[in-house]
Amino acid sequence: MRVLTGIQPSGDLHIGNYFGSIKQMVEAQDKNETFAFIANYHAMTTVSDGDRLAKLTMQCATDFLALGIDPQKSVFWVQSDVKEVLELYWVLSSFAPMGLLERAHSYKDKTAKGFATNHSLFSYPVLMAADILLFNSQIVPVGKDQIQHVEIARDIAIKFNNQYGDILSIPEFKVQEEVATVLGIDGQKMSKSYGNIVNIFGEEKSQLKTIKKIVTENVAMEEPKEYETCNVYNMAKLFLEGDNLIALQERYKRGGEGHGHFKIYLAEVMWEYFREFRQKREYFEANQDEVREILQSGAAKAREEAMPIIEKIRSVTGIKY
Ligand code: ADP
Ligand code: TRP
Repeated sequence: MRVLTGIQPSGDLHIGNYFGSIKQMVEAQDKNETFAFIANYHAMTTVSDGDRLAKLTMQCATDFLALGIDPQKSVFWVQSDVKEVLELYWVLSSFAPMGLLERAHSYKDKTAKGFATNHSLFSYPVLMAADILLFNSQIVPVGKDQIQHVEIARDIAIKFNNQYGDILSIPEFKVQEEVATVLGIDGQKMSKSYGNIVNIFGEEKSQLKTIKKIVTENVAMEEPKEYETCNVYNMAKLFLEGDNLIALQERYKRGGEGHGHFKIYLAEVMWEYFREFRQKREYFEANQDEVREILQSGAAKAREEAMPIIEKIRSVTGIKY
């Protein structure tokens, strides 16, 4: 199977990104053809400081490699290094009905949250469709928030194929149900753009500080506490299994401890979980030239895959005359 995913370098990577997408991608590497890229054009919808975007792109690449994306197994590149995606984006625009884009949750949510709207935010799903369709992707592992975007890519591909013949592969999304939506410290979907994240590679002290801000119920120390609805428990659950998870449930049920104790425990468990990744990250951080080389050779491979598809599209659409 050909599996593809992208992540925007629009801020620090957070545990929602990790469990919703990166981890699945890393696990898919051994049995599939995996394609992972950094969606820097997409990030322009929210990051308008050029230096910051450039810096975040390298940071995101470094993080991805530290978290286990293996350039020997996966094609790994930065979106803007394969410009053909912009060409396909335009071609697909003619197959993206206004109504379909107007219904996109991400656009509606951002508008509702008061972000200034512009064309790039509106046409965001068309560029995402181009990302997916340029590489004949079959499976797209995403968090729940991105399902609709993959469905839009499918709709666009079907419309295109109806017009020009069976050229584009029709992709499917894949969501890992138990981590479909990781909630942020405020109890809403964790997102870089909502300022409610717990990041993966923060300093130990600042991680604890963030975790301490997680909103919890107000229950007296000695009282038993609900764990199913607790934000702290739900985050801890991502890092624990078996007896350790049951032991935490027992602590909630028993009473005698406050949410502050559970927060400290969460911070410890998380710190331990990412320990090995942090060590790998230090290596790549000290070797940024190697990261750049990996990205360049990934882009060359990605373009090699894209060229036959884009050539076919140029030919059937009459762009090549
Ligand atoms: P963000 O919303 O923080 O900007 P992205 O949109 O760049 O994150 O998402 C990158 C990937 O991580 C996508 O596959 C997305 O579905 C997944 N993802 C993002 N936030 C969450 C979350 N809170 N829970 C689960 N998956 C998530
Ligand atoms: N829109 C995705 C997100 O915000 C990132 C992305 C861009 C993507 N292009 C993609 C994800 C293609 C999967 C496939 O999470």
